[in-house]
Amino acid sequence: MDILSEQCESVLRGNDRGTHTVPSPSLYPHQWLWDSAFSAIGWAHIDTARAEQELLSLFHGQWHNGMVPHMIFNMSPRYAQDRSTWRSWVSDDSPNDVATSGITQPPIIAEAVVRIGAQLDKPARQQFYKRVLPKLIKYHEWLYTERDPHKEGLVIQVHPYETGLDNTPPWMHQLHEHSRPWWISAIKKMHIDPLINVARRDTRSLPAEQRMKNIDALVIWDSVRRLRRKHYDIDKILHRSLFLTEDVSFNSIFVRNNTLLRDIASEARVKLPAELLENMQNSERALESLWDEQFNVYFSRDFITNKLIKEPTIASLMPLYAGTISKERAAKLVRVLTNNHVFWLKHPVPSVPRNIRSFDQNRYWQGPTWINTNWLIIDGLMRMGFATEAAALKSHTIELMREHGIWEYYNPLTGQGLGSADFSWSAALALDLLNS
Ligand code: GLC
Repeated sequence: MDILSEQCESVLRGNDRGTHTVPSPSLYPHQWLWDSAFSAIGWAHIDTARAEQELLSLFHGQWHNGMVPHMIFNMSPRYAQDRSTWRSWVSDDSPNDVATSGITQPPIIAEAVVRIGAQLDKPARQQFYKRVLPKLIKYHEWLYTERDPHKEGLVIQVHPYETGLDNTPPWMHQLHEHSRPWWISAIKKMHIDPLINVARRDTRSLPAEQRMKNIDALVIWDSVRRLRRKHYDIDKILHRSLFLTEDVSFNSIFVRNNTLLRDIASEARVKLPAELLENMQNSERALESLWDEQFNVYFSRDFITNKLIKEPTIASLMPLYAGTISKERAAKLVRVLTNNHVFWLKHPVPSVPRNIRSFDQNRYWQGPTWINTNWLIIDGLMRMGFATEAAALKSHTIELMREHGIWEYYNPLTGQGLGSADFSWSAALALDLLNS
């Protein structure tokens, strides 16, 4: 057996907590939405029953209104503080027997369902699809009812964590400009932000330059507090919120997963509600409104000002994964992707292009290369007919991992592994690339 495959399998097994996979052995002790979906894609190559279980455990945290939360907490007394940061029980919509966060994450569950389905024979696949469909439909419907209030076709994210790209530069600029409370400004002015390290789990074990800046971590934490105070009630959030965005990455993932949801329903011979089908079509059209003629890429939109946030990041390329854009626009994105001064660095694809000021080669979502975003781009390139570029990115990704190991993220210039070692989605998605 291939050595990297063996290592990936052992990382997944090491992070297996029975019904779900934690993202890494110590730093991330809970269950996360898109991490679990990616892990399930890896498990599908090892043990399909275990892969199915991963998604069922995710749905176990589903809220009564349909939301699948971005985190489901480990119930050990050790993590009481983590649970009480979110206090999901303040909302009547939260589930009764688990503590969760109060927001969602990129809706990539249908993708995992289909990847598992591909490993099953037809009767088993139909049975599995029938089991998850009601929950999946409810989740996609919730995204439209709560997160597309004007029926524009694009769904809103209410916190940077929902996009999965936490401290990506556009969000940090937004938060610091519009929603930094006076006390955080005072901490910054007095240069006492290093004191925050005492309260941070990550910087205790990892170099600070690889993680979010303290001042960024504070505004992010403060915006959790604001949502909690509103009991995660969407009307209250929309009424007065300082961060509301139509993230191009989240929406691209949603569009693709809508398509997959249609495939799942058709295979299971289940009719999707007419309103949902109509909304799905609307989204494909609306994604195009994020295209920018000047930069030849897509951008996220600020829901409050209704303006595009013209700061390129990896999110700008994600409509490749959506699969519904024109070949012409896709070719323009591929030109940006393969530019050596922009995204095609020694170890592509960096989370922020090299040629902008915010690029920071070691810092989390502000420059490093991540395996999940590479996987999404490879998948999109293949479906859009860019087989050569897809193959090149696939071999760069596998080589990076063979040489440097299985990490949370990587320095795009040197390949050095960064963040947490033995990271689940890196292992799971490498397994998938090796097997496809
Ligand atoms: C960080 C990442 C997020 C991921 C989570 C668990 O918050 O930014 O995308 O889901 O860690 O790995």
